[in-house]
Amino acid sequence: MPASPTPPSALTYLSGFGNQFSSEALPGALPVGRNSPQRPPYGLYAEQFSGSAFTVPRSEARRTWLYRLQPAANHPRFERLQRQLPGREPGVITPNRLRWDPLEIPAQPCDLIDGLLPLAATHASDQAEGVSVYLYAANRSMQRAFFSADGEWLVVPQQGRLRVITELGVLEVEPQEILVLPRGLKFKVELPDTIARGYICENHAGSLRLPDLGPIGSNGLANPRDFLSPVACFEDLRQPCQLVQKFLGELWATELPHSPFDVVAWHGNNVPCKYDLRHFNTLGTVSFDHPDPSIFTVLTSPSPDPGVATVDFVIFPPRWMVAENTFRPPWFHRNVMNEFMGLITGAYDAKASGFSPGGASLHSCMSAHGPDDSTVQLATEAELRPQKIEQTMAFMFETRYVLRPSRAALALPQLQNDYDSCWAGMATRFDGNQP
Ligand code: FE2
Repeated sequence: MPASPTPPSALTYLSGFGNQFSSEALPGALPVGRNSPQRPPYGLYAEQFSGSAFTVPRSEARRTWLYRLQPAANHPRFERLQRQLPGREPGVITPNRLRWDPLEIPAQPCDLIDGLLPLAATHASDQAEGVSVYLYAANRSMQRAFFSADGEWLVVPQQGRLRVITELGVLEVEPQEILVLPRGLKFKVELPDTIARGYICENHAGSLRLPDLGPIGSNGLANPRDFLSPVACFEDLRQPCQLVQKFLGELWATELPHSPFDVVAWHGNNVPCKYDLRHFNTLGTVSFDHPDPSIFTVLTSPSPDPGVATVDFVIFPPRWMVAENTFRPPWFHRNVMNEFMGLITGAYDAKASGFSPGGASLHSCMSAHGPDDSTVQLATEAELRPQKIEQTMAFMFETRYVLRPSRAALALPQLQNDYDSCWAGMATRFDGNQP
């Protein structure tokens, strides 16, 4: 596929989360006062891109109007690709705590789609419910366009920047930033640093949104203005372009006679966005104990049950620890929710070793876990001065459904077979004579 569209200058973005944005790459390309005029400006085609059912409550509605050179409908039949996502079928059932070392960057040419590894999913891929988790490792820019009909993508880069060309414009994302791509949005990913590695949460349920703040008030956690969406940017390339879609877990492809990145103007709220996790306004205790990790929620996809998320995206950023008479690392716990964790940079404060940047862990419903033995010892004996945890960024996809690891995930050489040992042989500190 030919060169990507280049915005007029350095990338510019529209600021805000869930806004009704408008953007046009040519003056007057956006119709005024109506969505579908008889003859749209510049001879463009009008097309609605829906991210929710038409009749959902207004607060849930996501849709964008696109004004483009060719309607997306102009494509030949999709054919099933011979190469499918490897080992995406559910692996054997296991209640065990699992942890993986980071994926290697591939030796062979591999774009982000070829480099997708299905790690775990809450439902069978042909059901497209709940969430699916992928790892990616790539060394080549995509020479094709892609979209997922199965869900919204939350991309968490761990290594290497991504330059993401979408129908609505271009975004650049680096590690410690995240990217949200609406279900069905066409995009391709270029790799400015040649290599890239990271995590993807595919959300098959309601769109991710900011959590309610309750007693926190009107500010804090991820602030809406720090989410950035692209501006309209198009190319007029009448050359063949492969378009791949993921549909019920399978990859299908067609060849377009033109570039799909031909949207001259758009308006709406079904848009991609990025967010710098370093802008997260981290809240915590200033007295004792520490709140549940829900205090670190960046985005959430609620389920119909109040307070129960299909998925929460939670981070563990740099922060001050000042709690008095408190065991400061994450406590031991068994939760009803299921926890997938990744590490973007630095170290996670519950584990002294074994959890590397790019690695992953999975703690399913009711599996007991927490700090490892050496972390416990240090935290128990530490002098409790104010202490800053620095140069770290861990995250969690927390879901109400059990994330079942894929066959590929359980066959990875990176799967650690000694993870349980980090809690083995913990000292019995009980002394009945010492209250
Ligand atoms: Fe946990």
